[in-house]
Amino acid sequence: MTSPDNNILSSLRHIVGSERVLTDADSLLEYGRDWTRAITPDPVAVVLPSTIAEVQDIVRLAARERTAIVPSGGRTGLSAGAVARSGELVLALDRLNRIEDFNPVDRTVRCGAGVVTAQLQQFAEEQGLFYPVDFASSGSSQIGGNISTNAGGIKVIRHGMTRDWVAGLKLVTGTGELLDLNRGLVKNNAGYDLRQLVIGAEGTLGIVVEATMSLSRPPHNLAVMVLGVPDMASIMSVLGVFQDGIELSAFEFFSELALEKVVEHQGLQRPFATPAAYYALLEFEAPDEPAMEKAMGLFEHCVEQGWVLDGVVSQSVAQARNLWRLREDISETLSRWTPYKNDISTLVSRVPAFLADIEAVVNASYPEFEIVWYGHIGDGNLHLNVLKPDAMVMDEFQRRCGEVSKQVFEIVQRYGGSVSAEHGVGLLKKDYLHYSRSPLEVEIMRQIKRVFDPQGIMNPGKIFD
Ligand code: MLT
Ligand code: ZN
Repeated sequence: MTSPDNNILSSLRHIVGSERVLTDADSLLEYGRDWTRAITPDPVAVVLPSTIAEVQDIVRLAARERTAIVPSGGRTGLSAGAVARSGELVLALDRLNRIEDFNPVDRTVRCGAGVVTAQLQQFAEEQGLFYPVDFASSGSSQIGGNISTNAGGIKVIRHGMTRDWVAGLKLVTGTGELLDLNRGLVKNNAGYDLRQLVIGAEGTLGIVVEATMSLSRPPHNLAVMVLGVPDMASIMSVLGVFQDGIELSAFEFFSELALEKVVEHQGLQRPFATPAAYYALLEFEAPDEPAMEKAMGLFEHCVEQGWVLDGVVSQSVAQARNLWRLREDISETLSRWTPYKNDISTLVSRVPAFLADIEAVVNASYPEFEIVWYGHIGDGNLHLNVLKPDAMVMDEFQRRCGEVSKQVFEIVQRYGGSVSAEHGVGLLKKDYLHYSRSPLEVEIMRQIKRVFDPQGIMNPGKIFD
């Protein structure tokens, strides 16, 4: 793979205009990385096309010149899937940011890949509808990136992942051809669903340039409860009781250390005075008095059983938002410690035993590190963050964490889980992919990539080598 020379830069300028080809140091740093900070970016240039045709021209040029492309969205990824570290061309989708063709009958809307998640959420609200995939980075993440990573977030328990909301998408393949996949159809069993193959492929099969997203009815009066629980087994008992009684739209958890950090660094209030080992955050619709009474009855039952030590329920939209911040602000709060992130999952039913095994390894192997637990426990997804001590250099920290990761992933494998539940594989998790995927699966993925991207120019080195 060669780097683009001056001829390629001048061809790029010819395609998009000089002002849309960036080579200054600040832009290379900014566009060459995502939220991970462990790898130094080193792209050759950043190109900002304004149309699908321009994307195709750029990809054809790169294919001719054998130049690697890293597609770039909101760059909020956490596995270095959008990091350009060795002379790649960053193709940023920011300018494909139009929302078009809202269809109220089909409840779908066509979005450019660069539409920001919050922009789509806002648009849906203006139509009296709802786009339910949500996460802390919704203000900067883009739809194309969400699709390429199959972003999950805080409402998966009720609404699923991004893949459940993509009714169709357009992909520019590694040869510059345009595929229009599924065209918004609800029912389409005419052969393989290539759309689903592209979702979560981290830009290794091509560039998602447009998507038709489904919308749903808006929720009625969402209420948020935060409960203090003594141990992980109790969290799972609380989950079972609430899921039997009402429909939850979120069931998240975080540890006391996560709460301490977020309260201290975001200037938030603790939800109640009683300290607990863990906290569960539940969200549900409470459109009327009986619905709230039912939820309160479930809460009281959990207190009687000793599974809940204390709790609070929101009385207003503002209170609900503040309670959500206790969970949603954790990631940003921890970023100052450049944490080593694990994003692991198993079946919900296996979470308590899984967590106990992992805690034993982590406590024995990281005695001097701070460990912060949080995550989407309602769908079996735990985030284990190890905080870098200020005095330790990054390389040494990464090396130590990488060693322990192998033990963590052996447990993940034993439990039939995943080494990346929602953050993707990128560069950071590819050495561990074999704990979740068989050699045959990885080989089939490689063969599929060759079909979409015969020159191997689309985000090479991500997911696998
Ligand atoms: C979250 O659940 O907060 C996000 O996945 C981000 C993170 O894990 O840090
Ligand atoms: Zn998460």
